[in-house]
Amino acid sequence: MATHNLGRTSFGNAKNAGNLMPIEEANELLNEWVTNDRLRLHMKQVAALMKTWAIEKENADDHTALKWELAGLLHDADWEKYPDDHCRIIIEELEKKNIDPEVIHCIASHGPRYFGVEPQNRMEKMIYAFDELSGFVHASALIRPTRYEGMDVKSVLKKLKMPSFAAQVSREDINDAVSRIDISLEDLIQYVIDHQKGVS
Ligand SMILES: [Fe+2]
Repeated sequence: MATHNLGRTSFGNAKNAGNLMPIEEANELLNEWVTNDRLRLHMKQVAALMKTWAIEKENADDHTALKWELAGLLHDADWEKYPDDHCRIIIEELEKKNIDPEVIHCIASHGPRYFGVEPQNRMEKMIYAFDELSGFVHASALIRPTRYEGMDVKSVLKKLKMPSFAAQVSREDINDAVSRIDISLEDLIQYVIDHQKGVS
């Protein structure tokens, strides 16, 4: 991940609170900006995790669940086209579209070490916790003949301790993110396995 500090911690305009976009429109943006299937799948997986978590664990209504889902779906939208300006470009695009500042702040806080924006609320802490872990669990599934079928938490924990496996996934970020929430790493891994296996 590029290490570009965004240089600000305030995003969007408060008068746009409540302004979301239909998920179809977000998918169109994704298809336009991202050609790499693996990266698109990553964002769809994080979106699914965010949406289901909001509904199942946070009692979110449809509007709130869409907010979580949009942040998940678009958080890396500019990564392929603008790796040196990752996060800044999608943030500016969503600001131009007058999107709810909560969605934009959530995207800005998905990597505090890189973007200099601390996750504050539940939605922001969860996108930070899901992001790297989702990619890691998927990498773990890809090397199994049966993929997600029969995959258990223990095997993922074991791989996390092998620095050479999916070396690009920051264990430091995973541990830091989990330390900020009241959910164990084990439970979170189980949630990721259960809720992203069907995403395609
Ligand atoms: Fe990501």
